[in-house]
Amino acid sequence: MSVSTTKPIQPVVYLTRIESFSTAHRMNSPLLDQQTNKQTFGKCNAIHGHNYKIELTVKGTVDPITGFLVDIAVLKKIIDETIMKPFDHKFIDTDVPYFLDNNIVSTAENIVVYIWIEVSKRLPTNVELHTIKLHETDRNLVTFSGEFL
Ligand code: NI
Repeated sequence: MSVSTTKPIQPVVYLTRIESFSTAHRMNSPLLDQQTNKQTFGKCNAIHGHNYKIELTVKGTVDPITGFLVDIAVLKKIIDETIMKPFDHKFIDTDVPYFLDNNIVSTAENIVVYIWIEVSKRLPTNVELHTIKLHETDRNLVTFSGEFL
């Protein structure tokens, strides 16, 4: 009698969770002088706010017993810890140490990378992040899929 060592074929499913948060920021690099900051960032060099929308897509196989890719309550808790508590109704540049301590300008590009790193640390092992889309306005959004060069 032979024993099959091949794993059963399981479908890969993508799940997207959408959240919104409001936060203040200022595009300003401590590595540039005041005049260069104004020239580089224009009116965004002043403190202002955005109503951000974020879409997190995770990927994985469905648990055959629960039927879940990931328990939404678990995902929601991760989003609360990594996005809502640090960012909602805060001033990114001083309230989020990653930006303050590393002289990182709080552009949507840098915010999405930070969120990717923090969410990735907390996901259950059967699930991986696929894409995060961060809408800064109705017209601008950035997408990150964990690529580094
Ligand atoms: Ni802005």
